[in-house]
Amino acid sequence: MSGSVFGNMFKVSTFGESHGKALGVIVDGCPSGVSLCEEDIQKYLNRRKPGQSNVSTPRKEADEVEILSGVFEGKTTGTPIAMMVRNTSQKSADYSEIASYYRPGHADFTFDAKYGFRDYRGGGRSSGRETLARVAAGAVALKVLKELGIEIFAYTYEIGGITIDEEKFDKDFIMNNELYIPDKDALEKIRNLVIEKKAEGDSIGGVIKCKVKNLMPGIGEPVFDKLDANIAKAIMSIGAVKAFEIGNGVNASKIFGSENNDNFIYTENGIEKMTNNSGGVLGGISDGDEVYFKAYFKPTPSIFKEQKTVNKDGENISINIKGRHDPIIVPRAVVVVEAMTALAILDLVMLNTCSNIDNLKKVYK
Ligand SMILES: Cc1cc2nc3c(=O)[nH]c(=O)nc-3n(C[C@H](O)[C@H](O)[C@H](O)COP(=O)(O)O)c2cc1C
Repeated sequence: MSGSVFGNMFKVSTFGESHGKALGVIVDGCPSGVSLCEEDIQKYLNRRKPGQSNVSTPRKEADEVEILSGVFEGKTTGTPIAMMVRNTSQKSADYSEIASYYRPGHADFTFDAKYGFRDYRGGGRSSGRETLARVAAGAVALKVLKELGIEIFAYTYEIGGITIDEEKFDKDFIMNNELYIPDKDALEKIRNLVIEKKAEGDSIGGVIKCKVKNLMPGIGEPVFDKLDANIAKAIMSIGAVKAFEIGNGVNASKIFGSENNDNFIYTENGIEKMTNNSGGVLGGISDGDEVYFKAYFKPTPSIFKEQKTVNKDGENISINIKGRHDPIIVPRAVVVVEAMTALAILDLVMLNTCSNIDNLKKVYK
C-alpha cells in the first residue's frame, strides 16, 4: 500500500493493521544526540490508549512501545528509529460480519473498490488504531521541537455543537478530564451529551483546536510546501477529519479586508502584528505569531443503531454493528493532532536550515 510515508527531511513510514500482529513506525532523519527512551513515547501513547473512560471504546490494549533501533545509551544515533506496539486484545470474530457487508461511513466499500481484497478485522489499516504509529513518531518530533523551544498542544474545542468558552480557558485542566476540555463549566454539559448519545447507540462529532507557540518567522516553503498546506495535509490525513481551518479560517471569507488584515507595529520585540487573524502564517510562511488551527471530526461511523447497507450477495440489508467503538473520536484524537502537527512542523523547520546561505553557513561550520 502506498501513501504510508510522511515528510521529506523527518520522514516517517507507518505499518500494521488493527487486528494484525503489531503496528509501528520507522522514523528516518531524526538528528543524533536527542535523549530518547520508551517512556518518552509511552506517555503520549497512553493518552491515545483505548478503554480508559466511558467515552472511549472498551477495547483494552496495553499499547506498550518497543524501540527496536536508532537509540544507543539513551540517545538517538541519527539512524532509523523503528518503534513497534504489539496488538494483544483483538476480538476479530466481532468483525467477521463486516467481511460480507459495507459499514456506512467507514472505508470498507472504498478499500474493496480499490484493492478487491481487504483485511476487514477491526477495519485493518483504516482503523483509528493506525494513529498509534503516528503518535509514536510524533512523540519523537515533539521531543526535538522542545529542544528548540517550540511548544505544541491541542484540546477539545467543541463536541456535538457545544463550544467551550475561551474566556474560561484553563490549560492545566485539559489533562485532568477524559474529554481534554480546558473549560470546567463546559465539561459537565458535554459529558452528559456524549453519555446520552452513547446510550442511544449513536455517535457524536466535534472540533479540536491546536496551538503552536514560539515558532520563529520563516518556516514553510512556498509554493507547494506551505506551512498551512503541510499542516492541513497532516491533519486531513487523520481518519474522520472533515475540515481544517487556520487562523480566522472560514470567518475570513465573510468579513472585509479592513477587518481581517493584521496591522503591523514596531514594539520593543521588533515587528509584531496587532491581531492574529492569519493564524501565524502569511504566504505559507510562519510570521512569528502563534500558529493556531481547528480540525473538524465527523461522528464515529460505527454506530449500534440499525442501518441500511448492501452485502456481497447483492442484497439490500439492515445491520446492527458489533465490536468495540468510540462513541466520539475527538478526545482520543487530541494527541494525534499534536503528533501530526509536530511531524509537519519539524519537517519544515529542518528544511529551513538550507533556505538561505547564512543558515547553510551556520549549519556547515
Ligand atoms: C483516534 C481515532 C479513533 C477512531 N475510532 C473509531 C471507532 O472506534 N470506530 C469507527 O468506526 N471509526 C473510528 N475512527 C474513524 C475511522 O477510522 C474513519 O472514520 C474511517 O477510516 C473512514 O475514514 P473517513 O471518516 O476519513 O472517511 C477513529 C478515528 C480516529 C482518528
